[in-house]
Amino acid sequence: MMRAHEAGALHGQAGDRGPAWLRYPEDVNALVPSLWAENVAKSDGVVTVAGVRVDELAREFGTPLYVLDEEDFRHRARAFRDAFAGADVYYAGKAFLSVAAARWIAEEGLSLDVCTGGELAVALRAEFPPERIGMHGNNKSVAELRRALEVGVGRIIVDSFEEIARLGALATELGVRAPVMVRVTAGVEAHTHEYISTSHEDQKFGFSIAGGDAMEAVRQILADDGIDFLGLHSHIGSQIFVTDGFEVAARRVLRLHAQIAREFSVVAPELDLGGGFGIAYTTQDDPSSPETLARGMREIVEGECAALGVEVPRLSIEPGRAIAGPSTFTLYEIGTTKRVALDGGGARHYVAVDGGMSDNIRPALYSADYSCTLASRESTAEPVLSRVVGKHCESGDIVVKDEYLPADVAPGDLLAVPGTGAYCRSLANNYNHVPRPAVVAVRDGEARLLLRRETEDDLLALDLG
Ligand code: LLP
Repeated sequence: MMRAHEAGALHGQAGDRGPAWLRYPEDVNALVPSLWAENVAKSDGVVTVAGVRVDELAREFGTPLYVLDEEDFRHRARAFRDAFAGADVYYAGKAFLSVAAARWIAEEGLSLDVCTGGELAVALRAEFPPERIGMHGNNKSVAELRRALEVGVGRIIVDSFEEIARLGALATELGVRAPVMVRVTAGVEAHTHEYISTSHEDQKFGFSIAGGDAMEAVRQILADDGIDFLGLHSHIGSQIFVTDGFEVAARRVLRLHAQIAREFSVVAPELDLGGGFGIAYTTQDDPSSPETLARGMREIVEGECAALGVEVPRLSIEPGRAIAGPSTFTLYEIGTTKRVALDGGGARHYVAVDGGMSDNIRPALYSADYSCTLASRESTAEPVLSRVVGKHCESGDIVVKDEYLPADVAPGDLLAVPGTGAYCRSLANNYNHVPRPAVVAVRDGEARLLLRRETEDDLLALDLG
C-alpha cells in the first residue's frame, strides 16, 4: 500500500506545524536531559561529552561520527545487572558490538547474546567467556553451530526442527553436549513497528505454542542424547513501552513450561524473556527504569508460577537498545540548507548533513523519530520547524523528520542526534558508496576510536574490476 503524503489536504501548513507531540522549545539551545547520555552537556553552546568538545572530536575524527559515552554505556549495563540480580542479563550485541563493547559487557558482569558467526567472532576476539554467551538465529549455518559447540557457548537458542537435528548430529560428532533453549512464539501482538514485532504467529521466528510446534520441539530435544534442555525463550519485539505484552507472553510461556513439567517430568531450570525495552528518542517516549521492569517481570513470573504450582525458573533477559541506545549521539556537519515553498504558502526548512540513511536507516525502515540540537555554537535566532536530511540519492533519506532548530543554522555548523547507539552503526551500510563512519568512545576527557572510519579505499578494495 502506498502511504499518502502525511500533510494531506493541509499540505500548505505542513512546513511550520510539527506532529502533535513536538513542542515549541522554551530554549532551543538547551539539551533535553532525558534524550542524552549522562555525561553530555553544553558549554558555551558547544556540546561536550565527558569533558570533550564536539568541535574537537570533529576536527580529530571527522564527521559523521558516532560519539559514545563509555560511562553511560557501562552504567546502563550495570543498572540492568543490579536491578535483575538473581537473573542473567544477556546484552543483545546486535544493537551495537565491537571488541571494546564486548569487554565492557564482560567487565560489568553481564552475559552476551550473539546472533551470527560474525558477532560470535567479535565476542571471541574480546575473549568474552564463552559459557556466558547465548547464540541466536533462525537460520544458523552448520558452520556457525559447529563453532558455537567447539568454543563451548553457554546456550544455543534453537529455532527450527532442522536445527535440532543438526545440533544432535554435531554434538555426537564432536563428543560434546549441546545446551539449548527453545524459542517460542507466544502469539501476542507487541505494540511496535511491524518489522520489529516478533511474537505474533505469522513470522519467521520461533516455534508456535498455539500450533503445538513448541511442545514437539521439546519432545525431540529430550529424546536426543546429545542435547541438554535448559528451558524456553520468548522475545516479543523491540522498542516496547507497555508491559501488558510481556505479561501475556510470560503467562503463555510459563503455562507451556508447566505443561512440559507435567508431560515429560522435566522441570526446565531457566526461562528467557528476551529484550525489547524501549528508550527515549524524542520527548514523546517515556521508558521505564530497569528497576521497574525487573519488579514487574518478577511479579508476573512469581505470580504465575505460584498459580501453576511450579518452581520459579532462573530468569534471563536480553536488553540491547536500552543499554547501547542512549549512550551515543551522531555528530554531523551541515552542508546545505533549503527553504522549500509548499503549496498554500508555507515553507519547510531542510537542513542537509554529511551522512543519512547509510549511518542511520531507522527513519526509512521503521519511520523512527529522532531529535537533534545545534552542537557547535549558541544561537539567538528564532526556532523554526526543520527537517534534517542526509546526502543520499533518495527522498526518504531523512535523519530527523521534525525538530525545532535555530533559523540561522548554516553550512559548517555541527548537529548532534542523540539515541543512535543501538541499531545505527550495526545497520550501517554503504548505500551510494558512502563509507561507514567511525565510532569514538569518550571517557574522563579522553577519546578513543573503537571502530575506524571506512575509506573509499576500503570500498574500492572489494571491487575486483
Ligand atoms: N533478544 C532477541 C531474541 C532479539 O531478537 C532482540 C532484537 C533482542 C533480544 C534485543 O532487543 P532490544 O532490547 O534491543 O529491543 N533493528 C531494529 C531492532 C531489531 C531487533 C531485533 N531483535 C531497530 O532498529 O529498531
